[in-house]
This record gives sequence, structure tokens and C-alpha cells, in this order.
Amino acid sequence: MERLVVISNRTGDLENKTQTGGLAVGIVDALRSRGGMWVGWNGEVGRESKASRKTYDNVISLTMPLSEEEHEQYYLGFANKVLWPAFHYRLDLMDHRTEFVDRYAAVNRKFADMTCPHLREDDLIWIHDYHLIPLAAEFRQRDCRQKIGFFLHIPFPSADVFSAIPYHDWLRECFLQFDLIGLQTKNDVQNFCRYLREHSDVEFITSNTVRWHDQVITIADFPIGIDVQQFAEMAHQDDDTIELERMRRTVLKRFQIISADRLDYSKGLPQRMKAFRKFLEDCPEYQGRAEYLQIASPSREDVSAYADIRAELEGLTGAVNGKFADFNWAPIQYINRNIPREQLAQLFRCSLVGLITPLRDGMNLVAKEYVAAQDDKDPGILILSKFAGAAEELDQAIIVNPYDIHDVAQALKRAAVMSMDERRERHRSLLKQVTGNDANQWKDNYLAALQSAGTSGELKKRF
Ligand code: G6P
Repeated sequence: MERLVVISNRTGDLENKTQTGGLAVGIVDALRSRGGMWVGWNGEVGRESKASRKTYDNVISLTMPLSEEEHEQYYLGFANKVLWPAFHYRLDLMDHRTEFVDRYAAVNRKFADMTCPHLREDDLIWIHDYHLIPLAAEFRQRDCRQKIGFFLHIPFPSADVFSAIPYHDWLRECFLQFDLIGLQTKNDVQNFCRYLREHSDVEFITSNTVRWHDQVITIADFPIGIDVQQFAEMAHQDDDTIELERMRRTVLKRFQIISADRLDYSKGLPQRMKAFRKFLEDCPEYQGRAEYLQIASPSREDVSAYADIRAELEGLTGAVNGKFADFNWAPIQYINRNIPREQLAQLFRCSLVGLITPLRDGMNLVAKEYVAAQDDKDPGILILSKFAGAAEELDQAIIVNPYDIHDVAQALKRAAVMSMDERRERHRSLLKQVTGNDANQWKDNYLAALQSAGTSGELKKRF
């Protein structure tokens, strides 16, 4: 079997036996069974930190730090002030400067320089996410003929929006150096193919396979999954504090709602809080009983749009609590830090509603985790944004428009009175979906497609 070489902006923890998150679970498994290499940024910034090469049995970890400029212009700059907002339909937040794109290209060159000397001729190369779109082009320039696949973890926007990104022509040329372009959803694949039809001369061989010079490129959806069993086990561990939370639901009849997100403007947190406020106004019988727990882990705090959203949320939480709270009850609990995954899993288990309403999301694994954490005798209800990639698969959730505060408030009302039979029926179907396409299945599907993609044997050098 060919070795696997994975390259992503952040690398997983190869030292740890238990992995968290879909990407790490699927990838570490594949790396351990095939042998190979994981290349990426070590998460450090500055001159003190050094590139390193470590070996864990049959897997090599190759990491490098970023300089201050690289961090500023490649990671915070082009990746997170240009690509991230644009791919999430927030062109208004795009903040582009020429030095950003130059540094983005330069860091991709650096990744290629670091990786190339370690590549074998028959390696399968799997590149992840929007930080590394130009990397295949860099490899091809260095005469690499291996199969190179890309997986985009975030949404691919509509053709118009993508074409508004500065340098989208260049990005397109870079995309076309891969053999396989994996996206999260069918909608993403449609957007990508439409963009190619409208903005390039590629020849479509099938609806999702194109020819560009001597290269055949497949564009397909591979919805990412989670390790269902591992998450369910975490959710069912004993914990006294969490047991108390469960009793609040069963004995005190509290209506507990939970959300967990990175604190990101794409997650729709202010809209969600406003919807909860509307629910309290429309259903006064839930004042004193409804409790909304929002866990928002800090993220990319050096980007001003993230600081703005944080300030807005703090204002909203204060306003809603100030208006509705009583001596023994506050409607919103807002936690702005990371909490351990085990605790999160258990909190999911004892909350009657998982409220997952991003304005745009590649997949949203929290939605799948919420489903995996439920007890099948007394399962909670998932309320899910139609703009999360997960909504394509999880159609038995209550699907809402996250921009429509009234719609989300109505969904909360519906959840509050949903019969046990309906809850169980919906949960059965959701769990089947989540289990049927877990992290391992995702990785197997992708790697099988990569192995059979492209035009084997031909020289893939086009520059
Ligand atoms: C999203 C991206 C990932 C990224 C993660 C955390 O899920 O798709 O590539 O690693 O956010 O963001 P950060 O900027 O902290 O790596």
C-alpha cells in the first residue's frame, strides 16, 4: 500500500493515542495503517522555535514555525482576512493587501521545500484546507508526479462570490493542479463546477470531472464525519456535576439548550441569542425554566472582526440576562473559553436541545457530536441551520434559517413540546446517518477516490 503524506496548516497530535475531531481521527488512523508523514505549522511564532522532524513508529511528523510576518500576512492575513470571510459569504469583512497574497504564496513554497526532499515516488499526497491551495502547484513545479488530493473543510461559495476574491484566477489555476478536489457537500461541488464553467476553459468530461491540459481532475463531495463510538462513550462517563445538570432537566423540568462553537462571525451567535430572546418573549411560560448554555471557544483574536463579534455577544448576553433573569435563574450562561471534550460530550447528553445555527459552515461536526452524545431512550433534539453542510445529511433535524429569528424561536417552541415518540424517531434516523458516514468512512472514501483519480503515468508538469 502507498504511503500517505498529509499536509495541513495545523498538524494533529501523533503522540496521543486518542484523537479529537474528525480530521485527526480519520487521518491518524490512515497514517498509522499505511505509514507516512504529517507536515504542518507547529503552532509557534518567532525565531526561537525551530523546524523539527520526529518519528512515531511508522509515521513522521514534520513541522515548522511561522515568522512574525508569516503569521501576520499568511495565516491572519490572506487565509483568515481574505479567504475565510469570502468562502463564508462575508465579502464585507474581506480585508486584502498585496503583501498578504505574496506571503501566502511564499509560505506555500516553504511547505513544498520542506516536504519535497522526504517524498517517495509512489506516495499519496493529501493536502487540507484553504491555507494550502497553491501547494500542489508548488509540488508540480518541483517535478512531483505523485497523486495529489485536496480537501476543503470550509464551504465553497457560489461562483459570483468566489470570483470577487482578489486573485481568484490564480487560485483557480492552483486548484487545477490537484488530481482530486474533495469538498464537503454536493452544493459545494455544484458551486465549484459552475465557477469553472463560467470562469475557465476547462473541458468537462463528466458533470464533475474536467480536463485541463494533460490533467484530469475530479471534483467530488466527501462529507466529513466523527468517531461516533468514542464520542458516545465520553458522553456516558459518570460525572457528579453533570449528573446534577441531568437532574435539573428531569426533576426541575428545566428546558436546557446548548450550543458550542469557535467564537467566529460565521457561527451566527448574535442571531441565535436574539432568537432565544424572542422565544422567551413569545413563550413567557418558559421564563424561569429555559436555560441556554453557549460555549464559545476563543479563536483568531488578533483579527478585528473576531474581537467585534465577541464584544457584541457580551453586550447581548448582558442585555438578555438583565431583562429576564431572576434571583434563582439566568436565561443565558455564556462561557468564553475552551472546556474539556469529555465535559462537552456529557453536557450535550443532558441538554434537550442542540442549537446549531451557523450562517455558513463547511460541515459542522458539533451537530454530529450532539447526535452521537444522546441517550436513545430520552434523546435530545437537534435544531440545525440550513446553511451548515451537515444539513444535507441530517434532514431529520429541525432545519432552520439562522437569519430568521422568528423561525429559530418557533423551532425552539416546537422542540419544547415535541413528543417522546417524535424525538426518538428523529434521533434514530440522525444517528443512523452519523454512524453510517463516520470519520473512518470519510477517510476511506476519500483515499479510494484519490487512488483512482488523475491521469496516471503522464508527466504532470504544466508551468
Ligand atoms: C476551521 C478550519 C480549520 C482550522 C480550524 C481552527 O475548522 O477549517 O482548518 O484549523 O477552523 O482554526 P485555526 O485558525 O485556529 O486553525
